[in-house]
Amino acid sequence: MPFSAEPAQAHDIGPARELLHRVELPEEGVVDHFGNYLVVRDASRLVGLCGVEVCGDDGLLRSVAVDPDYRGEGIGGLLVAGAQGLARKLKLEGLYLLTTTAADFFRRHGFEDLPRDKAPEAVRQSWEFRAGCPSSSTLMRWPARSQPARG
Ligand SMILES: CC(C)(COP(=O)(O)OP(=O)(O)OC[C@H]1O[C@@H](n2cnc3c(N)ncnc32)[C@H](O)[C@@H]1OP(=O)(O)O)[C@@H](O)C(=O)NCCC(=O)NCCS
Repeated sequence: MPFSAEPAQAHDIGPARELLHRVELPEEGVVDHFGNYLVVRDASRLVGLCGVEVCGDDGLLRSVAVDPDYRGEGIGGLLVAGAQGLARKLKLEGLYLLTTTAADFFRRHGFEDLPRDKAPEAVRQSWEFRAGCPSSSTLMRWPARSQPARG
């Protein structure tokens, strides 16, 4: 069955939190930002999600998670592309993320590494930046400065 990333519905919140718990990603703030979450479902259940937290003129890509039974089928890429589409729709200047384990995955999807002190102030104020991710995590931004964000 072909997968698609769709806007999360209110009833997705429970399964979304359960999946985040299973893959050991934080549940902090998920409810607050669920209006900008995307989910992928198979016939019977939620198998992937990600969210965009709006931080001023920019966005923070968070909660990118795919059920371990469904990895390697392109769902992670579909979610990232969906988040990039949402960022364009919301007219965000850039999409930032912090990761300790998946920088190579995001590089493949057009994100570039940035020093942490290059994060916009509103992104720095996010819970992930302040407390959720270790100071050793990599800051990344899409689009890379050499790529146009829109068009
Ligand atoms: C990262 C993650 C979302 C990828 O999901 P996925 O559905 O397997 O991704 P896709 O199928 O689109 O892409 C698979 C490719 O990405 C690579 N990849 C997957 N996870 C990776 C990681 N952590 N680092 C580098 N590459 C990774 C795979 O090796 C595979 O490469 P291949 O195409 O050469 O075989 C998933 O592994 C996951 O949920 N991880 C745990 C949570 C996490 O780390 N989230 C990101 C940080 S917030």
